[in-house]
Amino acid sequence: MMENFVIYNPVKLHFGQGVTEKLGKSAVPFGGRALLLYGRGSVKDNGAWQQSRDSLERAGIRVVEYSGIKSNPIVEDADEAAALGRREGVDMVVAVGGGSVLDTAKFVALAIPAGHSCWHFATGEKKPVQALPVLGVLTLAATGSEMNAVAVIQNDKEKKKIGYGHPLMFPRHSFLDPTFTLSVPANYTAYGIVDLVAHALEGWFGEGEASLTDRFILSIIREALEYGPKLMQSPGDYTLRAKIMHAATMALNGLTVQGKKSGDWGVHSIGHAMSVLWDIPHGASLSIAYPAWLRLQQDRIPGRIHELGSGLFGSGDAGQSIEQLASFFHTLGSPLSLSEAGTEPDQKAKQALFEVMTINKVDGIHHKLSEDDYRWLIDQMA
Ligand code: NZQ
Ligand code: ZN
Repeated sequence: MMENFVIYNPVKLHFGQGVTEKLGKSAVPFGGRALLLYGRGSVKDNGAWQQSRDSLERAGIRVVEYSGIKSNPIVEDADEAAALGRREGVDMVVAVGGGSVLDTAKFVALAIPAGHSCWHFATGEKKPVQALPVLGVLTLAATGSEMNAVAVIQNDKEKKKIGYGHPLMFPRHSFLDPTFTLSVPANYTAYGIVDLVAHALEGWFGEGEASLTDRFILSIIREALEYGPKLMQSPGDYTLRAKIMHAATMALNGLTVQGKKSGDWGVHSIGHAMSVLWDIPHGASLSIAYPAWLRLQQDRIPGRIHELGSGLFGSGDAGQSIEQLASFFHTLGSPLSLSEAGTEPDQKAKQALFEVMTINKVDGIHHKLSEDDYRWLIDQMA
């Protein structure tokens, strides 16, 4: 059945060459002081940091900075950045970087006015009542964080990685200049393509029937199937970078769940467990987990997998479609197993993954996973 749905997406998206120029002007209505967040330095090489600072300063906005945010971001960085922002009395948070920086900014924007750790929001112990405005300058096509109200944060002490969403977390403005993504190395370019495909698939496997939404989803994945490999061959091609950046944003901004209760998110939940344990890059965890999950579901939801395979590959055989998808991930250069991702899958590692999956209550919203499924999946992913 087609489910009832609400559409709400207030993000003002600025897409194309040179759009970051408008950052300062867009920020002025929010106040005169910005906390600018970035990661471990790539933004200084590709021009994103300089252009963002210049634009903010031209508009008369004072900037304080917090840097060093790691990929698979951690709660300590978000809390330290929030403490700095509170001390400096900032009016807004500007993220310059990939999904990790943007996700951190979203949590920082909640934590500054709240005055406590952002982790309490992630766990659901506290509900946000206000947030500082977030503005994003994206440098990596992958997560869709630039046009959604979700952020994912890791707590190493508790061995948990949690995705949390609240309407207050929508960025007010996101600036997407594909030029900044020209410097993304091959591995993260591949992981980003895997991630966008995985987001579309999470929508595909959500509960609810909506044929137009299915067509949107197939179009997004086809875009990745066609242009992803070309981009891996020509990483300096602006048009290909732009196509993939556009696809990544559309894959997780609400478009793919119209007429559905939600996406499934079981595979993401498995991927997060791997990132907690071994700091595996997000997209790499998904190219390992998705084929395994599809094999698990092959006899449970044969119709849906068959429909996907025929829509993407014109294939009438579900098993063959799963292997075609796996081979697509592999061709990009993303791993299909833990060992390919650099983790020796011995008994100890498998048990550790089982435990972290249990701690994180790994599950799909629609397609439920049992402990026996965990074991089966872990063996498949080894
Ligand atoms: O630290 P820096 O120097 O910035 O380097 C980064 C990082 O090493 C580098 N990079 C980014 N832009 C670059 C670049 N290097 C060269 N040139 C550029 N233009 O790439 C590395 C990865 O960056 P990161 O931000 O971690 O990648 P991504 O955008 O894939 O974000 C991953 C995080 O997002 C979460 C993931 O779980 C993970 O924690 N997700 C967020 C979602 C959301 N908010 O909706 C949904 C996703 O499913 C995902 O879970
Ligand atoms: Zn993802």
